[in-house]
Amino acid sequence: MATQEIALRLKALDRDSVLHPATALHTHQAEGGFIAESAEGVNIVDVHGKRYIDAMAGLWCVNIGYGRAELARAAAEQMEKLGYYHTFSGASNPPQTLLADRLLGLLREKAGLEKPSRIFFGLSGSDANDTQVKLVRYYNNLLGRSEKKKIISRESAYHGVSVASASLTGLPAFHAAFDLPMEGVLFASTPHHYRNAKPGESEEEFSERLAGELEALIAREGADTIAAMIAEPVMGAGGVIPPPRGYFERVQPILAAHDILLIADEVICGFGRLGSWFGSGHYGLQPDLISMAKGLTSGYLPLSAVAVSEDIWSVLQTGSEELGVFAHGYTYSGHPVSTAVAMANLDILESENLVDNAARIGSHLHAGMRSALGEHPNVGEIRGEGMIMALEFVADRTSKEPFDPGLAIQKAIAGEAARLGLIVRPLPSSGAAVALSPPLCLSEAEADRVIEILAQAVTTVMSR
Ligand SMILES: Cc1ncc(COP(=O)(O)O)c(C=O)c1O
Repeated sequence: MATQEIALRLKALDRDSVLHPATALHTHQAEGGFIAESAEGVNIVDVHGKRYIDAMAGLWCVNIGYGRAELARAAAEQMEKLGYYHTFSGASNPPQTLLADRLLGLLREKAGLEKPSRIFFGLSGSDANDTQVKLVRYYNNLLGRSEKKKIISRESAYHGVSVASASLTGLPAFHAAFDLPMEGVLFASTPHHYRNAKPGESEEEFSERLAGELEALIAREGADTIAAMIAEPVMGAGGVIPPPRGYFERVQPILAAHDILLIADEVICGFGRLGSWFGSGHYGLQPDLISMAKGLTSGYLPLSAVAVSEDIWSVLQTGSEELGVFAHGYTYSGHPVSTAVAMANLDILESENLVDNAARIGSHLHAGMRSALGEHPNVGEIRGEGMIMALEFVADRTSKEPFDPGLAIQKAIAGEAARLGLIVRPLPSSGAAVALSPPLCLSEAEADRVIEILAQAVTTVMSR
């Protein structure tokens, strides 16, 4: 059978057999979707043999780039030695133990965390954030604070899709018709200066206003009913929104004053995305709890990690004398193959200085994108940090008037870019924006090609 014929059959079979995640189901039934077949470095090839630069690193996760045989070898060796054993009842395996210890070291050295104490392993960003919800409930129950349970998230946040993590997600599409959010989730405003600042309001003034709003929210609900606030250091899927100047500097003392825990969702930011090892280090956060996934294995195998501070750990440890077993965990928690692959992934991130590369090429990408599209009449904002970026498109640059959502400008631009061989991601946020989050191994020449193709796609779509 000719390759093209196989590709078309696969497409038809896929359409008839897979319920696709995060997909417009009716459109997919009519049009089918992209089927990836192979990938190397920053490039991915589909079943038709067409090659693309994947400027999204899959879903913000292939930090070391595709096709690294070291990870394949680590998986194969571990699978032959010990393909699985559980970690319940204190059982362990060498890679999980070594990885936990290595993560604690990285959080101390690279993020400047003072008291990271234990690591809990899961398989996805969503389950990591579910674990966070359960941990803060458990912690407060052990402390006898049965009312202190609510969690503050933010509008436009993305924290996953399980019942609890989707509830923390602040994007309406992830709640609609799922009977979410669950009770006990509060939403603070999105810290997006470009969209939400008042005319003439500086970033610092905007941060001050949001901090005031947060204090008012806490006062209204009662601090004794609020357990934690969860925040992505740079908001990802909700629009790629870096914190405005002074934001976390104002938010953290407010949380501390009210004994509200800070959960840093580092699922995208962790492992070099911002040009620093962790978003917490990048912005000087001292979270009590941290969620990690994606870049931990560069997506080669599923793995998530939750870091727990000493203060929380000591409550859990003492409490277990009273409650008995810490009754939370997954069949695949601390999976030996995933954790072995994570170790090999961290080896590459370190030995090839990919975090520094993300900072250097990230600056080049931002500067190049600004010079190519910064003055375009329909480009409202180019934002981001290190190797993560969004371009927001507007009907009018001066008034920031958005495009009619019905035009789905971001989809048209991503579609045209794909036609030209570049993958960017149209964002499900209210504005028309596309995101870029390339592998951290992107070269300067590849960054230039990304800019060139995206500029061409924007010009073509806008001139229609
Ligand atoms: C910040 C953040 N948290 C959590 C998640 C959920 O991760 P997963 O899709 O692995 O469940 C994501 C996924 O994109 C994310 O970006």
